[in-house]
Amino acid sequence: MCGIVGYVGSAGPSERPLDVVLEGLRRLEYRGYDSAGVALVVPGGELAVAKKAGKLANLVEELAAHPLPPATAAIGHTRWATHGGPTDVNAHPHVSGQVAVIHNGIVENYAPLKAELLAAGVEFLSETDTEVVAHLVSRAYEESKDLTAALASVARRLEGTFTLLAVHVDVPDTVVGARHDSPLVVGLGDGENFLGSDVAAFIGSTREALELGQDEIVTITPTSVTVTDFEGAPVDVKPYTVDWDTAAAEKGGFRSFMEKEIHDQPHAVADTLLGRLDLSGKLVLDEMRIDESVLRSVDKIVVVACGTAAYAGHVAKYAIEHWCRIPVEVELAHEFRYRDPVVDERTLVVAVSQSGETMDTLMAVRHAREQRATTLAIVNTHGSTIPREADAVLYTHAGPEIAVASTKAFLSQITAAYLLGLYLAQLRGNKFADEVASTLTELREMPDKIQQVLDRSERVREIARWMADTPSVLFLGRHVGFPVAMEGALKLKELAYIHAEGFAAGELKHGPIALIEPGQPVFVVVPSPRGRNTLHSKVVSNIQEIRARGARTLVVAEDGDDAVIPYADEVFFVPQTSTLLAPLLTVVPLQIFASELANAKGLDVDQPRNLAKSVTVE
Ligand code: F6R
Repeated sequence: MCGIVGYVGSAGPSERPLDVVLEGLRRLEYRGYDSAGVALVVPGGELAVAKKAGKLANLVEELAAHPLPPATAAIGHTRWATHGGPTDVNAHPHVSGQVAVIHNGIVENYAPLKAELLAAGVEFLSETDTEVVAHLVSRAYEESKDLTAALASVARRLEGTFTLLAVHVDVPDTVVGARHDSPLVVGLGDGENFLGSDVAAFIGSTREALELGQDEIVTITPTSVTVTDFEGAPVDVKPYTVDWDTAAAEKGGFRSFMEKEIHDQPHAVADTLLGRLDLSGKLVLDEMRIDESVLRSVDKIVVVACGTAAYAGHVAKYAIEHWCRIPVEVELAHEFRYRDPVVDERTLVVAVSQSGETMDTLMAVRHAREQRATTLAIVNTHGSTIPREADAVLYTHAGPEIAVASTKAFLSQITAAYLLGLYLAQLRGNKFADEVASTLTELREMPDKIQQVLDRSERVREIARWMADTPSVLFLGRHVGFPVAMEGALKLKELAYIHAEGFAAGELKHGPIALIEPGQPVFVVVPSPRGRNTLHSKVVSNIQEIRARGARTLVVAEDGDDAVIPYADEVFFVPQTSTLLAPLLTVVPLQIFASELANAKGLDVDQPRNLAKSVTVE
């Protein structure tokens, strides 16, 4: 939540600091779009600040009408409001004297700090917790005349979560950052350096980055990067090269990032599999840093995650329990953390997160570690916090996901969960060895099959456009189709602001069937009719039950499943695949439906209202 960019360059005062920061904000706008602002350090003793409520476009308009002077350093912020509404005055940066500060996170003890400042005669302009920090840094600087020391001394007093960047007119070639439980990465340039909430902030200028740890202060000048802890002791930082390219963070001809990311899904899945299946079909998980003996002795797995990532966790449960015969619980990270869960040294806690920064999930990982559980992160964003704190990481290689609602990250999370399940099954030996081998082979075919679903998507788009006025859509599924139904409903709520609910189809008769009235649209995810123990006929009965009560049935079924045709108002066929892998295909028409319907309503599918991409507050 909130995007942060900092820049400093050596070429003398120029337009580049503002250009870099605006470009960074453009790429980070998915992190929050309640307001945007910049502060430039103009040599000769001036801070130039512009900030505007609403999307970045409002700030850009303001800057066109009232241009700012050339500068040597800049900070910029795109906000997801926590304390104080989304107004111009609450927008960051906040200025006190000759200091400007931007902030991501929540300062939990801002009230006593504010009382202290008010008592000292400080006047406040905004309702934000951040303004407190700006005044504190300004006062600390007056004492030490050292911006790094000033920010460190303030950071030591703050409770809550924060990434802070500060600039001061006395040091026009310096930006200082502080990090505590919120993200911050450093980009290394030639005669210029960058700070950002994530690498997308500077990916257009450099791919060389430094990973910062918790409770660290970083000071960048055009030619140096210095990192210390909050006490001022130097710390070692790890350099890495970002493997995303700029094209991955651009729309590439699609109307929206969401559409592009839906179409990226074959690659996201292929890249997540890449290098992990050797020629003999054996699984290679090179980032698995947990001792094999520990994984053999695990007697329970708990998946912790939020939102879409949690639905990927539900798919993981079906697959891992089947292949490995280990009990798997899936829990929303925010519930897990606060209910005294039973985990111990024989539990493997798997945290699933696209951003690697979701505070609820991070807290769940920390809690699991305190209980001596082994922790594994399935994460998309390199250099993020959750993989740093977990015992091991299995990166999904979906590339940058810019649209706020998750699509390709979901498919890559499911793919990584399959890899984990198959790896554990191989490691522990099990009676399904043949099935594990055939699943590995089949996984390789999934990118092509996803592409086929995309190639056939015109009909679902057409239906979505016709249904732009529909007030409510229900989604039904069984087995792995159940989390797919919940994900379909979540996508529709998020993107199109339509009431939507996902149910286990078997639960229908226990209550939700009362919602069915003539014309009610219901998506039904039908399992394959092939194979033993298929639930196909039970789901077909469910379709008949709702059809009999007037529902309009929109059915997702596999190629050749003619049995559903008599009961379906529309059928969206997907290629045949084994039951456990089917979510990689069946969710795709639901994503397209939600995105197309939102488009038809004229909504911003990339930045739905009230949401932020990376939820870094609890
Ligand atoms: C929904 C969505 C969210 C995220 C959730 C977790 O489209 O994107 O539900 O899945 O906020 O985020 P990560 O995966 O970054 O931990």
